[in-house]
Amino acid sequence: MTQGTASLGTRLVVAVGLVFVAVATFVVYDRLLREAPAPVFESDEEHFLYGSIGNESTDGIPYWVWLVLPRVFPDLLPGPGGYSTLGLLSKDGNDLPLGFSKVTIGYPRVAMNCAFCHVGSVRAEPGDLPTIVPGAPAHQVAAQRYTRFLMAAASDGRFTAANILGEINRNYRLSAVDRLLYRFIIIPETRARLLRLKEQTAWMDGRPDWGHGRADVLNPMRFHRLGRPVDSAIGTADMMPLWDMADREAQGLFWNGSQGTLMDAVVTSAIAAGTSRTWLDADTSKWEEADLLRVLRYVADLNAPAYPFAIDKALAAAGQPVFAAECAQCHATDTAASPRAVDTDRDRLAAWTADASAALDAFGARRDWKPAPFESGDHYAAVPLGGVWMRAPYLHNGSVPSLAALLEPPVTRPARFWRGYDVYDPDSVGFVSDGSEARRLGSLYDTSQAGNTNVGHNYGTSLSAEARRALLEYLKTL
Ligand code: HEC
Ligand code: HEC
Repeated sequence: MTQGTASLGTRLVVAVGLVFVAVATFVVYDRLLREAPAPVFESDEEHFLYGSIGNESTDGIPYWVWLVLPRVFPDLLPGPGGYSTLGLLSKDGNDLPLGFSKVTIGYPRVAMNCAFCHVGSVRAEPGDLPTIVPGAPAHQVAAQRYTRFLMAAASDGRFTAANILGEINRNYRLSAVDRLLYRFIIIPETRARLLRLKEQTAWMDGRPDWGHGRADVLNPMRFHRLGRPVDSAIGTADMMPLWDMADREAQGLFWNGSQGTLMDAVVTSAIAAGTSRTWLDADTSKWEEADLLRVLRYVADLNAPAYPFAIDKALAAAGQPVFAAECAQCHATDTAASPRAVDTDRDRLAAWTADASAALDAFGARRDWKPAPFESGDHYAAVPLGGVWMRAPYLHNGSVPSLAALLEPPVTRPARFWRGYDVYDPDSVGFVSDGSEARRLGSLYDTSQAGNTNVGHNYGTSLSAEARRALLEYLKTL
């Protein structure tokens, strides 16, 4: 009898214990791991701007933490104004800047998508609101500084659960369970992850800064995603526009013309941006509805934006034959010109290695989505010049601020200038690259640094002043 009661008691304890474990497991699963379907956007454009590319599980930052970091660490940003001071753009009615997706995996997480580096802004006057051009190179974004901001915050003594929760509390009331999870798991884990990232990206510190509108997408791919040993290569390149892609496919995509189809370039870019293999498997099995296919469709239809300021038509007409004589042999869109040597800075060419190519091949082994080998390529592509006005600064390393400067011999091109300001200068055809606002908002580009030289591409530099002016006007019409 006594024994029976005891065993009933034991059974009860065990049962209660099991229920507790089950509830706790469910809560942990539900609040930390359960993946909710990514939000579906109506238009392909919104999908491009805010949609997920499947990197939240690898690189995502808890939304609430991400939201308050600029308020906890305003001193780690270039100025007041939060993420916008890094050149991130916003549109009314969305809580995230362009180039960020939000997906709930246990808790809402944000990660960058293609638009982070592929949406540009332009203004005629400092007082204007920026015109947002999807698909344009994000010349105004300080991508490296963004990552460095997150890592600096994590390294700072103020990155504590108490500080961060206190700040979150001003916006949003987390439930008691969530508060516990944020305090003891999510915030410490985020900090640990960012500190690991800091170690992983220590290689960046020994190389020139990217500055605004440039990114090294090759080295993170080689060192982090593909586990290649860290070497001294500099892969920093100007961000590229995503319009007129059919013309680009013909000559090979990326600055070194290394990939032949847009789909392969999209998949490779996603892998570089942290998209997981599991996500790629699941996504590509959805065929027509696949998220990456939607990105591809959107990009494939993008046309170069027309020059938004006045054009002197007569002068532009006089520039057309100059273009035909001096430039068309490489840049005309109807000749799928193969890449040619033009003696510009070679660092970017050396940054993609045969062993990385093999590792990428192995990464996609037996998968339908496996991109064709990403070749090293030993020449830069002579890109088609549609929307060339919005491709500034120029050349693969973004070493020349304007088209007027590109038509000067390298010795007289600016040796130092500021990148990142989005007010346009129609005279030089490029963004304003000096002056107090350009200095305040942008970053200094120094052509004496490794990978940054502005040599080569001497075409048009010996033209008469008149022919050069006409050519410059004609280039605005492309
Ligand atoms: C961190 C910034 C960054 C992100 C994020 C990014 N890209 Fe890029 N993208 C670049 C840079 C830089 C280049 C030039 C790379 C090179 O050749 O060195 C580039 C090149 C490309 C090209 C080649 C264009 C051409 O004319 O050859 C395509 C296509 C492209 N990106 C698509 C994408 C897609 C799709 C995504 C999202 C899945 C994406 N990118 C995400 C920075 C980025
Ligand atoms: C022999 C081939 C060749 C000729 C001729 C040529 N280019 Fe280029 N051009 C290239 C190559 C290759 C690149 C890429 C170089 C790099 O990025 O380092 C390039 C890059 C450019 C860029 C930079 C594009 C960007 O997005 O940054 C512009 C602008 C340009 N050329 C304009 C011209 C003009 C204008 C002429 C005529 C005066 C001309 N090119 C003549 C081969 C040529």
